[in-house]
Amino acid sequence: MKGVILAGGLGSRLYPLTHATNKHLLPIYDQPMIYYPISTLVNAGIDDIVIVTGGPHAGHFLRVLKNGKHLGIRHLEYAYQENEGGIAEALSLCQEFAAGDDVCVILGDNTTDADISRDVRDFSGGALLFLARVPDPERFGCPVFDPDDQATILEIEEKPVSPKSPYAVTGLYLYDNRVFDYIDRLTPSDRGELEITDVNNWYIRDGSLHWTELNGYWSDAGTFESLYRAGRFWAERRTREADQSPAPAGWSAERITYPVSGQ
Ligand code: G1P
Repeated sequence: MKGVILAGGLGSRLYPLTHATNKHLLPIYDQPMIYYPISTLVNAGIDDIVIVTGGPHAGHFLRVLKNGKHLGIRHLEYAYQENEGGIAEALSLCQEFAAGDDVCVILGDNTTDADISRDVRDFSGGALLFLARVPDPERFGCPVFDPDDQATILEIEEKPVSPKSPYAVTGLYLYDNRVFDYIDRLTPSDRGELEITDVNNWYIRDGSLHWTELNGYWSDAGTFESLYRAGRFWAERRTREADQSPAPAGWSAERITYPVSGQ
């Protein structure tokens, strides 16, 4: 399985912070935001990764990530998204990189301490969505469950005014290679973007969408509130860890890989 991190966009919800750099390089406590999705992939054994970025500060990624070796990445590529065409359009730029393989896609502003290595190992095609129970599902893609069979999702609604469940579709997805065919069939939404939610609805229609609840903490970090919330969680987590086992001599925040839930 190959890894795709989507880290484009202008980050306009975080202006003025994102006038100076790309959103995904802003700090969440003591790490650049993009270190978190990288560690989710690397900890799941995915070390062949492409980062899709865009906007005026794309070059900043090289300064921070270089070839990714110090973060456990074996092979790192970059792709450039020219317009604000949406998450699904950004993913479409990775078709050659995927080279027929399955992909684990994660949004560059998502942070989680969940261990998805078993899901990655057991993935057998279709799509797997990771859901998280949230207080504000109207901010996200939100599943509509079959009232007669709670295991089945009938539809995903993107930012519904009246959410039909308390779950968010997190920005973490496993797809087989058909995802690129489905993206080809999309038309832009009202906001002019190719929506990842429309891709997921294609998988629902072909009967191969599966879901699981993400086992651990999850937050996006694309607004001031969520950026602050994520920073507070990781600050507390890191302080607790430091209290339990002080950093050894020679420890470097650059090399950190985050322990997963339950360890
Ligand atoms: C995007 C997706 C949404 C998903 C969310 C997770 O929303 O469109 O379906 O729930 O990421 O972070 P955005 O953050 O682009 O508004």
